[in-house]
Amino acid sequence: MPTPILDARSTSERPSALARAALVLRSGGLVAFPTETVYGLGANALDPAAVRRIFAAKGRPAHNPLIVHVAAVADAARLAEWSDEATKLAERFWPGPLTLVLPRRAGVPDEVTAGGPTVAVRLPAHPVARELIALADVPLAAPSANRSGSLSPTAAEHVGADLGGLIDLILDGGPTTGGIESTVLDLSRRPARLLRPGLVTPGEIEAVIGPIVRAAVAPSATEALPSPGMLTRHYAPKTPLTLVEELTAESLAGRVSRGERLVLLYRVADFGKVPSWDGFRGLGMPNDADGYARVLYGWLRAVDEQGHDRIVVLLPPDEEAWQAIRDRLSRAAAPE
Ligand code: TXA
Ligand code: MG
Repeated sequence: MPTPILDARSTSERPSALARAALVLRSGGLVAFPTETVYGLGANALDPAAVRRIFAAKGRPAHNPLIVHVAAVADAARLAEWSDEATKLAERFWPGPLTLVLPRRAGVPDEVTAGGPTVAVRLPAHPVARELIALADVPLAAPSANRSGSLSPTAAEHVGADLGGLIDLILDGGPTTGGIESTVLDLSRRPARLLRPGLVTPGEIEAVIGPIVRAAVAPSATEALPSPGMLTRHYAPKTPLTLVEELTAESLAGRVSRGERLVLLYRVADFGKVPSWDGFRGLGMPNDADGYARVLYGWLRAVDEQGHDRIVVLLPPDEEAWQAIRDRLSRAAAPE
């Protein structure tokens, strides 16, 4: 059966859409909803059977734990062992795109934590997300609402394309403003450790709690994966993607002469670095990191539908403001 998409944007439709979604969640169903980062696929976090349905719909490996979304700090503190650092960070960044990993309390199902000793919690800023959690009156386990391994959805249509027929309901809150996933910070160890760069930067976190381990998480055979979602290849379009720090007419000519249909992504400010040549299609991206993040996944999805052989991305600068975007691009480029 096709999955209904309910309008949660218009003030007239919203109350009934939210009421229906809350009912679905309370009866163990799956509802996709907008957050300020990307769309999430929600289920009652306290209902193990409902949480298992998330894994089935996404095709997600059971060893990858889920973020629990809450409506208030007090609700997070019921799921996780709260700390002073958590209080300070929540005061500064919640509601917003920062996920905190803390020791779990009893009562959090193993399905949510993948059997691990910690739980990830976040208080999202999107009004539809917040109203939905409050109305359902349960914490919501919610990964990004895409099939495992593909791009996170930044619009309700993306969710429909990926998960239509597999979930119960989609709430359409319009395109998301953040565009990439939240920052994930592990507060269960000292010093705290960045697990996934995101819209909140390490510098902003350190201004609140002091130094953290900023090193990117490199999966290795010897170290247990601190955050299984950080498997190298992730967030990937279907079209192969190549990253370059600089562009030469020769490198592009080589590809085109091999018959590759290329699309080139560059920041508009970098237009001067693009060799003048009409053998490929160019796509000018926003110059600022926030703007770039907002459009990135949507544009990659659109490019996927246009039948190119390869996406070549002229990397944005190696600066903190661009860390999360460079992280997602390198995961999209990693070999399968
Ligand atoms: O912005 C976001 O974070 C979106 C919206 C929907 O909130 N959610 C999202 O969820 O991106 P997901 O499941 O696609 O990514 C969650 C990441 C994964 O890398 C997962 O491994 C990690 O968080 N994670 C979840 N629980 C964890 C835990 N207890 N310890 C370590 N990492 C955890
Ligand atoms: Mg995801």
